[in-house]
Amino acid sequence: MTIISIEDIEPGMLLASEMRTRQGRLLLPSGARVTQEHLKIARIWGITEADIADGSHAAGKSQQRSLENLDPELKKTLNTLTEWRFACCDSEQAVVRRLKTLFKLQEVQNLSRKNVREMVDRYRGPKVDASAKPRLPEGFRRPEFDEMVRTQAKLASLPDVFHEIVEVIKSPTSSASHIAEVISKDASISSRLLRLVNSSFYGFMSKVDTLTRAVAVAGTVEITNLTMGIAVTSSFKDIPPEIIDMNDFWEHSIAVGVVARILATQTGMPNLEKVFVGGLLHDIGRLTFIQSYPGLLKDMLVWEATRPVTLHQLEKKVFDFTHARLGGGLLEEWKVPEGLCSMVANHHAQNNSKDTLDTVLIKAADVIAHSLGYGRSGSRRVPPFTDYEWENTGLSMNILPSVAAQAGNQIRDLARIIVMEHDHAV
Ligand SMILES: [Fe+2]
Ligand SMILES: [Fe+2]
Repeated sequence: MTIISIEDIEPGMLLASEMRTRQGRLLLPSGARVTQEHLKIARIWGITEADIADGSHAAGKSQQRSLENLDPELKKTLNTLTEWRFACCDSEQAVVRRLKTLFKLQEVQNLSRKNVREMVDRYRGPKVDASAKPRLPEGFRRPEFDEMVRTQAKLASLPDVFHEIVEVIKSPTSSASHIAEVISKDASISSRLLRLVNSSFYGFMSKVDTLTRAVAVAGTVEITNLTMGIAVTSSFKDIPPEIIDMNDFWEHSIAVGVVARILATQTGMPNLEKVFVGGLLHDIGRLTFIQSYPGLLKDMLVWEATRPVTLHQLEKKVFDFTHARLGGGLLEEWKVPEGLCSMVANHHAQNNSKDTLDTVLIKAADVIAHSLGYGRSGSRRVPPFTDYEWENTGLSMNILPSVAAQAGNQIRDLARIIVMEHDHAV
């Protein structure tokens, strides 16, 4: 008996025990030989792993083979790059080893002598001077946390609909039509919201063509959370592209939201949109640091590229607080619901036994998105992560390949809807 990821199961393998949905519905009996059709149905039902009788040696066979048969020079480069990216993680941790393998299996698919340099540059960025040190600006004084939060929260140009939604959710009597009416005043946000609800990410059977219907089918809490999330994505402008490419930034943020939502589905948690929006907003504090200290952040990125240290560890050294705490503080100042603020504020806190499941999932999703290279929010290193933190999700590590496969399909679609088209939205 071997539990393996659905992505590693190949047609012809035998099931060692029944395959059931999370709701307990029997899909396949024990002893059934798996077919391509079965795998398709299992994925539709969100099955992520199965007990395979003869699969102990077959996990990820074809992908593993392509890694084993890789040209030795390419293999060496891929291994070196993997070690560099995971230099801040403890390789004794089983989850770290799994994520490293997942990264290699992903990269090996299209790797050749022709594009190997391009792969390394994509992950490591431009060559930097190894002796460089971050230069603190002339007269630099550490910002005081509360003061920075208050000032930056006022400076942000949040759309009016954001503040109106915050008021609406305070009222216990707000109806679906009232919420829809408030959102509809912002054409760009309404349009993105409707496209989002109609995307494959939601998979509603029939078209949702009005905001009132969107609120009715997705729920008021979900729609108000999504509205706040989308509104915040519109408020960060003028970020210097040489420090951070905003398309990369939002791709990373959306990836964390998508992965967290997939993990949340597996845990059976209600209110999936909260973790999606938590993922979408988790790194906004980084944008605030860049807006406030562009030159210093640029230097810190150089420092990170030449030492095994992550950008958030550097932030703590330089400012005495990280972008996580800053982002959480901003959201709190904007009166966003408390659960969202703490998810954002704690996404880099390590081995915190008080973390809620939401926070645990955002933390895991961030590490998965970093490991697989979905976008970038500044840091080029994978943040530290432990087996203890993964165990807090209550999920099996076998789901990781399947999570990666599902997320990859959804991230680009959502990036187009939520961020990249917002200047053209009608
Ligand atoms: Fe972060
Ligand atoms: Fe992140």
